[in-house]
Amino acid sequence: MKQGLFISVEGLDGSGKTSCIKAIRKYLEDNNEQVVVLREPGGTNIGEQIRHVVLNPKNTEMDDVAEMLLYASSRAQLFAEVIKPTLESGIIVICDRFIDSSVAYQGYGRGLKIDDVYQVNLTAIQNRLPDVTFFIDIDPETSLRRRFNESETDRLENEKMQFHEKVYRGYLELCQQHGNRIKKIDGSGSLQDISDAMIEEIKKIVRGR
Ligand code: TYD
Repeated sequence: MKQGLFISVEGLDGSGKTSCIKAIRKYLEDNNEQVVVLREPGGTNIGEQIRHVVLNPKNTEMDDVAEMLLYASSRAQLFAEVIKPTLESGIIVICDRFIDSSVAYQGYGRGLKIDDVYQVNLTAIQNRLPDVTFFIDIDPETSLRRRFNESETDRLENEKMQFHEKVYRGYLELCQQHGNRIKKIDGSGSLQDISDAMIEEIKKIVRGR
């Protein structure tokens, strides 16, 4: 049986990831594919408990390495419990954030060693990178404006602008380094434009399988 396709979607908060994921899910299901959508951190019982700790705005004393390991733990559980068996049964997995979030936020954003973040996370995902990753490109100012319209923000969203700029630059660097896997999608257009661009890429991959 053929392996399922593994797709991850990345971007700053407010980039429209969630709505675009709904649109690509619909496209794939309309084309008779089975799809599982997951979010990080979380997606499993254990992962949701970790999410509660890692995103809680009250946890202001959290150490950067502890934070990186918590995200990686949630990811390890999600990979072993859900992603691996789902892909093995031929089903498409779409992940709202994955390893690149840790490299961008904990590596570039917090300033942890990029190699360390990779090593820990590659262990967590048993070296199985996504087949394709979409980075929805919106700049930190746009992200901030969109986040201001939300009533509640989490611990990461409350970080200073400088942090989000570092994360953004990190993502752009990742797009350059991993151009084969990570596709940069212009996030300034409508949600329809963004999801159409993603669907075009997916069509190419599905055709080549
Ligand atoms: P979430 O509410 O899922 O935000 P979004 O809707 O933007 O995905 O919160 C996830 C937050 O955690 C987000 O600010 C990015 C951050 N994060 C990391 O710092 N490292 C990671 O590995 C992951 C998965 C998320």
